[in-house]
Amino acid sequence: MRSLTLALGTHSYPILIGGDLLERADLVQPFLSSPRIALVSNTTVAPLYLERLLGGLEKVGAAVTPIILPDGEAHKNWESLNLIHDALLAARCDRATTIVALGGGVVGDLAGFAAATYQRGVPFIQVPTTLLSQVDSSVGGKTGINHPRGKNMVGAFWQPKLVLADTDTLKTLPARELSAGLAEVIKYGLIRDLPFLEWLEANMDGLVRRDGQLLAEAIERSCANKAEVVAADEFETAKEGGRALLNLGHTFGHAIETGMGYGEWLHGEAVAAGTMMATELSRRLGWLSAADVDRVRALILRAGLPVTGPDLGLARYLELMSHDKKVIAGSLRLILLKSLGQAVIHADASPAEIAAAIEACCDA
Ligand code: NAD
Ligand code: GLY
Repeated sequence: MRSLTLALGTHSYPILIGGDLLERADLVQPFLSSPRIALVSNTTVAPLYLERLLGGLEKVGAAVTPIILPDGEAHKNWESLNLIHDALLAARCDRATTIVALGGGVVGDLAGFAAATYQRGVPFIQVPTTLLSQVDSSVGGKTGINHPRGKNMVGAFWQPKLVLADTDTLKTLPARELSAGLAEVIKYGLIRDLPFLEWLEANMDGLVRRDGQLLAEAIERSCANKAEVVAADEFETAKEGGRALLNLGHTFGHAIETGMGYGEWLHGEAVAAGTMMATELSRRLGWLSAADVDRVRALILRAGLPVTGPDLGLARYLELMSHDKKVIAGSLRLILLKSLGQAVIHADASPAEIAAAIEACCDA
C-alpha cells in the first residue's frame, strides 16, 4: 500500500492507495467519530463493491445506512442532494455520523456536499472507484453539484478525513472512463511536473492496458502533485499559480460539458479537448512551439481521448466560458502553459486570440 498525506494542519488526512483495500475496515475505523455510517453509492458501483466495503465495516461494529443514487453526471444536481438529505434524516443520522462516498467523482462530489451541509457539517470519507476520482476529485475537498447554467456552480470546500483508493476497482471500469481519468493525470505533468510528463510518454501504452504497477505509480504521483498544490492554497485564493492551475483545460472543458448537456461528454474527455485549446492558445501567445503542441496532442491521443471539441459555435463557447468560476470582475482568467511542465494564470488573452484557439481545436 502506498500512503501520502495531504498536509492541512489540524485537518490533514491520509491518502491510501493499493489493491484489496475495500475490505480493510481497520484502515477506516480510526477515522470514525461514532459507529454510525451513511454509505453513498450509485446503481452501477453498489452492485459491484458495496458488499465488500459493507462486510468489512460491519465486522468492526459499524452501523451502516446505504444510500444508492441514480448513476450519471446528469444526476449531479439538487434532486440527488435532496435524496441524500432525506435518507440521512429518515435514518435519524446525527452529527457524529460519517458519510462515506463509494464511487466516482459524481458520487464523491455529491456525498461530500451532503456531508458539508447536513446539520452544518458531518465527517466524510472518500472511497474513489474511478481513475479520475483516485487521481483528482477525491483529494482536496471540492464538493458540489451542477447548475443547468454551469458546471459545479453550487458547492463547498469540505475535506475528507481519509481517502481510500482501492486500485483493484479499476479492473471493472469501462475503457472510456479509464481514458477520462488519464486526462487529469496528464494535466499534472503539463502544469507542474515535466519528469512525470516524460514518464507518461514512456508508459502511456501500459497505463491504457491497465498495468497495475503503472496505474498505482500514476495515481501516487498525481495525488502527490495535487496534495502539494492544495496544501499550499486550499481555498484557491492565490493570485499567482496556486490551486487554480489544476484547472488547465477546464474553462473550455466545462463549456463543452454544459453546452453538450451533462453526461454527453465525460468530464475527462471535455478536459482533454479543453487542454488542447489551452495548449494551442499558449502557442499563439508565443510560449509553446508547434512541436510542443504536437507532443501534447500525441499523448492525449494515445490515452484514447479527443483532441478537438464539438462544434458548439464560437458565440456559445464564449458565453459558457464567461460563467467560469475563475472569472473575476468580468475578466476571464485562463490557465495556460508558459512551457511544458509550467502553467500560469493569464487574464490578458484577447477575445480574438481565444476565439482562434477554440476554432483551431473544434470539429468543423
Ligand atoms: P463518474 O463518477 O460519473 O463515474 C464514471 C462512471 O463509471 C459512472 O457510470 C460510474 O457509475 C462508473 N463507475 C465508477 N466506478 C466504477 C468501477 N470501479 N467499475 C465500473 N464502473 C464504475 O465520473 P468520474 O470521471 O469519476 O468523475 C467525474 C466528476 O468528477 C465530474 O462531475 C467532475 O466535475 C468531478 N470532478 C471533481 C473534482 C473535485 O476536485 N471535486 C475534480 C475533478 C472532477
Ligand atoms: N480539480 C481541481 C481542484 O481540485 O482544484
